[in-house]
Amino acid sequence: VSAVVRSIEPTAFAPHAPVDVPSRSRGVAIVVLGTGVVGSALLRLLATTAASDIRVVGVANSSRQLCDARGFASPPGVAALALAPAVRDDDALLCALDASDSVRRVIVDATGSSATAALHARWLDAGYDVVTASKDAAAAPASRWRALREAASRGRAYGDSATVGAGLPVLSTLRRLRACGDALVALEGVFSGSLSWLFNRYDGTRTFSALLREARAWGYTEPDPRFDLSGIDVARKVVILARAAGRSIDLSDVAVESLVPDALRGIGVADFLENASLLDDAIARRFAEATARVRVLRYVASIDANGEARVGLVEVAPSHPAARLSGTDNLFALTTTRYRAQPLVIQGPGAGAEVTAQALLGDLIALRDA
Ligand SMILES: NC(=O)c1ccc[n+]([C@@H]2O[C@H](COP(=O)([O-])OP(=O)(O)OC[C@H]3O[C@@H](n4cnc5c(N)ncnc54)[C@H](OP(=O)(O)O)[C@@H]3O)[C@@H](O)[C@H]2O)c1
Repeated sequence: VSAVVRSIEPTAFAPHAPVDVPSRSRGVAIVVLGTGVVGSALLRLLATTAASDIRVVGVANSSRQLCDARGFASPPGVAALALAPAVRDDDALLCALDASDSVRRVIVDATGSSATAALHARWLDAGYDVVTASKDAAAAPASRWRALREAASRGRAYGDSATVGAGLPVLSTLRRLRACGDALVALEGVFSGSLSWLFNRYDGTRTFSALLREARAWGYTEPDPRFDLSGIDVARKVVILARAAGRSIDLSDVAVESLVPDALRGIGVADFLENASLLDDAIARRFAEATARVRVLRYVASIDANGEARVGLVEVAPSHPAARLSGTDNLFALTTTRYRAQPLVIQGPGAGAEVTAQALLGDLIALRDA
């Protein structure tokens, strides 16, 4: 380990501030889309002094919204929203942003909705900044990704810190290294909090499916754990990281090993959970084989020096940094032209509402202070 980065450095793939920002006096106005796990945590952070001068002018879930162009004295939470009329209208939220007369008008996407992510480029084009926890747009196919990047390059910011590593400063570090003329040579790590927890805990004494149910109960997995087990979520993070490092890459370029057997695909979540024991034999066998070779199993993501991207279950030596993770730790080992002998390693909890919300707030504060 040559360095452990500790500070949170919000970033975006566009310049944070257009050159013609007239004044900071009217600050930042935001609407928060999504009041689930991450959105609610963000609303709590927005009520703290750390978020002073960030005015919440709108809050919405999938069916209700509240807006006030003057800014709420205290950001409304889930309970207040539940009392609002059952009306959803993005235009009214954008109007509140416009009427706020703020220098930066920011839409925060904490929804996980693909339809919402599909609007990111349009919002940037229309002069709004976007801060997102959703990976959907940043990992989208190249044509959509280019449209997003071009829209952001016209002076708006796209805050994507929360899309990889929850609150860990991974994307900002990659971009900073790149800005200094450093280049990514290879990347390796454990990018999923849920898969990290599962393989950190699995020792053969409890079945994998029992651990999976526990992970789901703790909220470490998606409601449908196949999103985690399929490897697609990790692969999307590989795409976002590689793009931040300046690589041209699509999801189809990443070789993905899914842990979901055919029999557990194409069925409802309840059926999947009921039959999750179908996962057990294969994992137990892989574990026994690894143990016999004095190795441990980890779900690892990598881009090697030839540019080959892969996510899947691998055996690593007990001395490997991935073998020594605990809890929901993520690990990102960045080998670059200047961190060549030893990679720059960023490690820490890579899941959780608080740290993800903090990454969103960090991007908002970067806009406020730009
Ligand atoms: N949970 C984590 O630890 C974590 C970590 C990193 C990134 N993320 C990402 O953060 C995003 C949110 O995750 P989450 O765990 O908070 O999800 P969640 O608990 O399921 O909450 C999603 C929220 O979005 C709302 N929503 C859906 N469509 C909407 C729309 N069109 N307009 C406004 N609101 C809408 C939902 O409304 P209803 O309440 O009406 O259903 C709900 O409040 C996802 O992209 C996820 O991948 C999550």
